[in-house]
Amino acid sequence: MASTARLAEQGVAVELQRNANEEDGHARMYKQAMLDVGTDVDQRVEFRPTTQFLARVGELARSEPSRALGALYATETAAIFEHETFFEIWKQICHRGGIPYDGGRIKAFHDLHVDGVEQGHKDGLAAFVDLDQPPQTQGLPVNKDVVEHGALAAIEAMQTWWGAMFELAGVAPANPTR
Ligand SMILES: [Fe+2]
Ligand SMILES: [Fe+2]
Repeated sequence: MASTARLAEQGVAVELQRNANEEDGHARMYKQAMLDVGTDVDQRVEFRPTTQFLARVGELARSEPSRALGALYATETAAIFEHETFFEIWKQICHRGGIPYDGGRIKAFHDLHVDGVEQGHKDGLAAFVDLDQPPQTQGLPVNKDVVEHGALAAIEAMQTWWGAMFELAGVAPANPTR
């Protein structure tokens, strides 16, 4: 967010702040929802690829503004698929554990995100990713090539992360991309 505030186009930072506000409290909400179905996040064991993935996204978000924009657009887009995936994973976990899924907080949490939140985040940034601005009198221009590089760097980080999860689960990705 701080990085994109340096753009002449202030709409990017405004949209990212809106997204962050919308996510405020969600970590606590998700933690409680998982606890309801028997998973205590405080008892987790660190999964290094996740730590590395978050560090990489943080690094991209703090880099030059157009790169940060591209990286965040890519992760917001993937968030839709991630919520769909975790919706199904929790459904299975609840089913196998004999825990009701419908009406529970964990399903409601994913429903909320799939039914518009993440699509809204993606669409909110989409308005800026195709800009290719000339030098600006105040602030930096959006540079389309740099936006694309940022998005590809984030996609690469996501592929590595998901690849590590597939490996842990002992399954091959359905669509190997490398
Ligand atoms: Fe959220
Ligand atoms: Fe999001």
